[in-house]
Amino acid sequence: MHELSATAPLPPPGKARPEPGLPAPRRHTLNPPGRCLLAPALLATALLLTGAPALADAAALLGGEALFTSGTRLGGEAPRATVASGNTVSASALPCATCHGAEGAGRAAEAGVAPPAITWSALSRASAARPAYDEPSALRAVVQGIGAGGRALDNVMPRYALSIEDGRNLVAFLRALDTRPLPGVEDSLVRIGLLLPPGRAGDAFAAAFEAALAAAAPEGVFGRRPGVLRATVARPGDARAAAERLLAQSPLAIVSALPGEVAAAAAGAATAARVPVLNARATAAPPPLSFALLPGIVEEGAALLGGLPEPGRALVVAASPDQRRLADAIAARIAQVSDDEPRVVSPADLPVAAAEASGVLLLLAPPAALSAVQALRNGPLPVLLPGAAGGAEAPDLAQALGRPLRVGIGVPAGIGAGAPAERFAAGPARQSGLPGRLGHAAGEVVVEALRRAGRDVTRDRIAAVLGAPETFEPGSLPGLRLAGGARAGSVAVWTADIGGAGLIPPPAP
Ligand code: HEC
Repeated sequence: MHELSATAPLPPPGKARPEPGLPAPRRHTLNPPGRCLLAPALLATALLLTGAPALADAAALLGGEALFTSGTRLGGEAPRATVASGNTVSASALPCATCHGAEGAGRAAEAGVAPPAITWSALSRASAARPAYDEPSALRAVVQGIGAGGRALDNVMPRYALSIEDGRNLVAFLRALDTRPLPGVEDSLVRIGLLLPPGRAGDAFAAAFEAALAAAAPEGVFGRRPGVLRATVARPGDARAAAERLLAQSPLAIVSALPGEVAAAAAGAATAARVPVLNARATAAPPPLSFALLPGIVEEGAALLGGLPEPGRALVVAASPDQRRLADAIAARIAQVSDDEPRVVSPADLPVAAAEASGVLLLLAPPAALSAVQALRNGPLPVLLPGAAGGAEAPDLAQALGRPLRVGIGVPAGIGAGAPAERFAAGPARQSGLPGRLGHAAGEVVVEALRRAGRDVTRDRIAAVLGAPETFEPGSLPGLRLAGGARAGSVAVWTADIGGAGLIPPPAP
């Protein structure tokens, strides 16, 4: 049970490790808008090196980039786009990058026709389906929806009302995509951001993560060594700013050891920059590029309630807005499998509401949890606590309650198989509890994701392989699938009666 202590809320600020000395990103020519602080520098350099024509080229590139990544015009109103229904919308609602990928490498079809690669090298090459594009035919595809060879493109591909200048800018950018450095990737280095809680938990996670990278890929992956950029989040409110500091260093992906809703704020910032995030714990509503090694409070809470005879008549006790959001998500999950939806109540309403309830799930911080438990002391109600929401407090709470308290444990007891498990057994991470297990698992998953993404790794490809149905062997945890944003069903939630019968296995799927 001692592992649960590691899932406690952020420990008090400790001494943060210095960030290791990675070289600054080498080439930043084409940062997405919103982060284009470098644009003036780029223009100035272009002017210094080659005079006015280069300045015009650089301006065309920036204009093309704005159209491609955000569907906007620099200093003007966004063009209009006609969609499948025949309606027109602002192109800013449908930037090329959302379908064709941030690097223009194309995407697998989610439904219907797959958006193909539209880098200039791809367009200017003839394929089995069509002849090669040139500039006029490529623009005809974008403006009129007529492909090279005259085929009408599927109307999933919007038609954009571009000016002549827009067209010139867009083509300049599509050409540049071929030679543009991939964010986070250099000849001998891939940059991985690491977001850490302060103190021992963060240090143990980071040490295990870096040891796993070194052990799983001593020569790097495709000749590139993972370079780790660290940021420590001293206070929960700093998570977004810390994520933004990392994003400014252009990582390929971010690994986050932050707890619950602290991780959610950081993952939100990363998603806005289209950088994939691998979280230790699932957050309440994972954004699309966010993945997790372990279930979070929502999964644990839903599993605990699911174990009650009448889960729809249970109460979920929440105080802060974050707790309420989690409580609503848990209640919504139960409503899918039960006739009723559990009620979300505040601590003040608990004593009255408890009279009618089938059980009580607590999402409160320690002092409030203790008084809630005291209010329930003389009743028969089962009291439930997600491990990720404060498992470390469970023994104290059980004592105050005067009977066993049921805790959800999304951390599987067993470890994995194969070479990753051997590396875990042989390495130092084994000795550092849950943070060590999670750090090792994250390192193994990152190395495997880099291998699966291939030599031409991009952020999109990392997100695609993390979200694919294939299993990852993290070594320190049983094999897991990350499909669907959070960890998938392969990690089940156990429950334990603290002060009672001990571990209860999850129901068979
Ligand atoms: C909503 C998704 C979506 C958006 C946004 C989008 N496209 Fe497409 N695009 C597609 C799909 C799907 C196809 C394939 C259509 C087909 O083959 O019938 C396509 C095809 C194309 C083609 C033809 C490629 C070929 O090999 O024939 C070009 C060129 C193209 N898109 C450029 C762009 C540009 C430039 C933008 C932004 C200004 C853009 N697309 C925005 C979905 C999209």
